[in-house]
Amino acid sequence: MLIRAVAALALLWALPVAAHDGDHGPPPWQGASAWPDRIVATFDADPSHTLAVNWRTAANVKATRAEITLATPDARIDLVGRSVTAQTQRVDLDAVMLGGKLINVAANDALPAVAYHSVRFEGLTPDTLYAYRVMGEDGHWSEWFQTRTAPKSGRIRFIYMGDAQNGVLSLWSRTIRAAFQAAPDARFMLHAGDLVNRGSRDVEWADWFRAGSFLHAMIPAIPVAGNHEYDMADPDDAARRRILSHLWRPQFRLPVENDLPAVVHETAYVVRYSADLHVFVLDTNQPDMAAQAAWLDVQLKASTARWKVVTMHHPIFSSGGDRDNKVGRDMLLPILTRNNVDLVLQGHDHTYARGLLDAAGQAPRRAGFKVGDTLTTMFVNSVSGPKQYQFRKQGWDDYAPTGVKLERQGENGQFFQVIEIDGNRLSYTAYTTDGVQYDAAIIEKRGTSKRLIKNDNTAPPTRRFGNTLPYKSPDF
Ligand SMILES: [Fe+2]
Repeated sequence: MLIRAVAALALLWALPVAAHDGDHGPPPWQGASAWPDRIVATFDADPSHTLAVNWRTAANVKATRAEITLATPDARIDLVGRSVTAQTQRVDLDAVMLGGKLINVAANDALPAVAYHSVRFEGLTPDTLYAYRVMGEDGHWSEWFQTRTAPKSGRIRFIYMGDAQNGVLSLWSRTIRAAFQAAPDARFMLHAGDLVNRGSRDVEWADWFRAGSFLHAMIPAIPVAGNHEYDMADPDDAARRRILSHLWRPQFRLPVENDLPAVVHETAYVVRYSADLHVFVLDTNQPDMAAQAAWLDVQLKASTARWKVVTMHHPIFSSGGDRDNKVGRDMLLPILTRNNVDLVLQGHDHTYARGLLDAAGQAPRRAGFKVGDTLTTMFVNSVSGPKQYQFRKQGWDDYAPTGVKLERQGENGQFFQVIEIDGNRLSYTAYTTDGVQYDAAIIEKRGTSKRLIKNDNTAPPTRRFGNTLPYKSPDF
C-alpha cells in the first residue's frame, strides 16, 4: 500500500504543470513518458519506396529506433523486423531559441522538455503492405502499424479535410474517424491548415493526436501550415511577425525544398505520390509569396503527373464572411490555370464551397456547369472542425470575371472529402460527419481536355445557419 502511495505521488510529481488549461489541469494524455506517443507517418521522399515516421517521448530518451517488415499473415512478424536508427531532438516546450534569443512560449509555461524522434524507412517496394513499430526507452515499443506504400500508378483514394482547429478532441475526432470509415483504404490524409488553434500550445497537439489516434500512424499525413500554426512572435520584432510553431518540424518529417527560402522548409513542398498524382503544398502565411509562386510555376511546368493537385490554407476564392484574398488570387490564379492544375484544396474560411473554372476563354457560366462541359480547375474550401462562418453574402458572383462558378456551398457543418484518382478519372465526394454525401463531382481527362461527367450538387438541401441546429462560436 505504501509503495502504491509513493508511486502515485511520484506520478503526480512527474505530471507537467500548465497554467493555461482551464480548470482541469493538463490531461493525462499530454505528458510524455518512456513510451512512444504522437506517432505520425508522413512522406519526406518518394512514397513508393520510403515512409517517414515521427514520434515523441520524455526528454531522457536520447537515442532510439524503429523496426519495419512486410505485413505478412505470419504470427510473429516481430521476429523479423529490420531496425532503423532514429534521429532524435530535444524540444523545450516552454521556450524556443530564435536568432540567438530565448523566447518564452507562455502557452506551455513550466511544461518539461520532450524528445521527438524520426526515421525514414527506405528501400521499400511499391504498393506493398508494411508493418512498423517505434520504440521509446529500451524495450518500450509501440504496437505494429500497417501501412501501404504508394503504387507506381493506378487507382488510389485519399482524404482531404479543412480546418480542425477548435474542439479538436471533443468535436473534430468524429470527423477524422468518419473519414476513415468512409475510406479505410485512403492512402493519405491531407490537412489543409489550422490543424489546431494555437500551434505552439502543446495541449492542442495532444488533442489532435488523441483524436486521430492510430489513424495518424496508419495513414500518412500531408499537413498544410495555416495561420494558426504561426502564433509566436519575436518580442524584439516591432512588426510582431508570427513564427511557425516550434512543434511543427519536430513532429512532421516533411520534404525540404532547397530551391525555397529556409523559412518555408517543410511547409512548402511537393509530394510526387505516383505517376498519376502530384501534390503541391504552399505556405500562404508568408507576407511575400513571390518566391513560392515562381517555384510553383516551375514545378508545375515540369510535372508529368496525370493529375495535379495544389493545396494551401488561404483560398483563392473566399467563401467566409466578408473575406477576399485578392493578393493571393492575383499572384497564384494565373499560375494554376496556365499549368492546368486540376484541383485546389483549401481551408481557412470555415464554410463549404466548391467551384469550377474554365479558362478556355468562354463567358462565365452564370447558370452553372453542366455535365459534359469542359473545365480547367476545381476549387474547394472546406472545414472539418466546429468553428463555422457565415457564407460570403455575394457568394462568388464578384469572381465571375475570372470564369469561376460556385457550384455548391454550405454553412454550419463539419465536412470531410474523399478523392479518388483512377486513370483518366478524378472522383470527388464531400461528406458531412454523419457519413452522408453532401457534394460530388467527377472529372474525366481526354487528351489535353477535361470534362465534367458528374456534378451532384443539389441534395441534401444547402446547409444554412437558418435551416440547421443553433450555432455558437466555440470558445475552446
Ligand atoms: Fe485560418
